Amino acid sequence: MTLRTLDSLGPLEGKRVIVRCDLNVPLRDGVITDDGRVRASLPTLNALINAGARVIVCSHLGRPDGAPDPQYSLEPVAQRLSELLGAPVAFARDTVGESAKDAVASLEDGGVVVIENLRFNAGETAKDDAERAAFAGQLAELGDVLVSDGFGVVHRKQASVYDLAQLLPSAAGLLIAAELDVLDRLTENPERPYAVVLGGSKVSDKLGVISHLLPRVDRILVGGGMLFTFLKAQGHEVASSLLEEDQLDTVRGYIAEAAERGVELVLPTDVVVAEKFAADAAHEVVAADAIESTAFGASGIGLDIGPETAARFADVVRGSKTVFWNGPMGVFEFPAFAAGTKAVAQALTEVDGLSVVGGGDSAAAVRQLGFSDDQFGHISTGGGASLEFLEGKKLPGLEVLGWV
Ligand code: 3PG
Repeated sequence: MTLRTLDSLGPLEGKRVIVRCDLNVPLRDGVITDDGRVRASLPTLNALINAGARVIVCSHLGRPDGAPDPQYSLEPVAQRLSELLGAPVAFARDTVGESAKDAVASLEDGGVVVIENLRFNAGETAKDDAERAAFAGQLAELGDVLVSDGFGVVHRKQASVYDLAQLLPSAAGLLIAAELDVLDRLTENPERPYAVVLGGSKVSDKLGVISHLLPRVDRILVGGGMLFTFLKAQGHEVASSLLEEDQLDTVRGYIAEAAERGVELVLPTDVVVAEKFAADAAHEVVAADAIESTAFGASGIGLDIGPETAARFADVVRGSKTVFWNGPMGVFEFPAFAAGTKAVAQALTEVDGLSVVGGGDSAAAVRQLGFSDDQFGHISTGGGASLEFLEGKKLPGLEVLGWV
């Protein structure tokens, strides 16, 4: 079976179309700091508006505890959506209650309402199948069909992502179709050399993808907080840098497997070590095997890859034909520790082939560092989802749309 797409739903004029988006954007003091996911939802929403559908947008935001929590309200997102669509967008103060029902009943053809955060209802994320199905049933009463377009959440077996798609005629939106188009090119005969750059803080989040990719790629570059577990596995001291002791054996196994398979595992040769975790912390560049030799001794914390490593990573990236990047190289939110992430991002813009930035954090990083979306082959809206896709996992939110 192949993915069911929008045209499989037939004419949508006058129909109530629930659109499951991933509008989980970063907010600071109620202000959206990166609206990439709102922008990415526009093609599907515009297509539905132009088709005369009555559009009911739903999403999660953050991880509230199954009850209303004002800091996770979708209201600022609804406002931003209205600005980007250039049209009024109604906002319902609940998800399946009176406010949502009234707002849906008042919709005209081509009109849009955003309902409140799905995760304000415990049923959305419930592990219990019946509890999830009950909430999906309430959602289903709001609409006639479902368009599933929240790529960032397709790896979650949640009511609006999985159960609802079985209760209403359902199809994937344009964003999911576009994401799969690109990610499929990373798994089916990618042009070589194929390099994967992994960063971010936790090795344990990336283990699945490393073990799945080792037989498939030519180069793996490791930066970010997880690099210290690799350095320690090589026998180096890492002072007070982030370390996952319980992953050391697994990481040693990867280092050995990469050597056996002839995969180039590119690890940092220098790092930036800071006195403490702070934007204005004193810091030194030091060789990767001498992290404890700085003035900060055993209390130093590695916060970025060093300049020699950044230059080497950039060379390897530029010299590859297919590159997937997930996870910042350092604490890019602090300008003093953003150089590694910036160098990798810059190199990705110079790839003569397919460059893909995967994930919420990496996508926010490239925008925050001043790059624009069109400098990359593709910026995925899914962090966990794109990694799990590359791990070869079956994703519940895609399977339910016919994707195998
Ligand atoms: C994400 O930000 O990766 C998606 O929106 C999924 O969010 P979650 O990890 O809270 O399920």
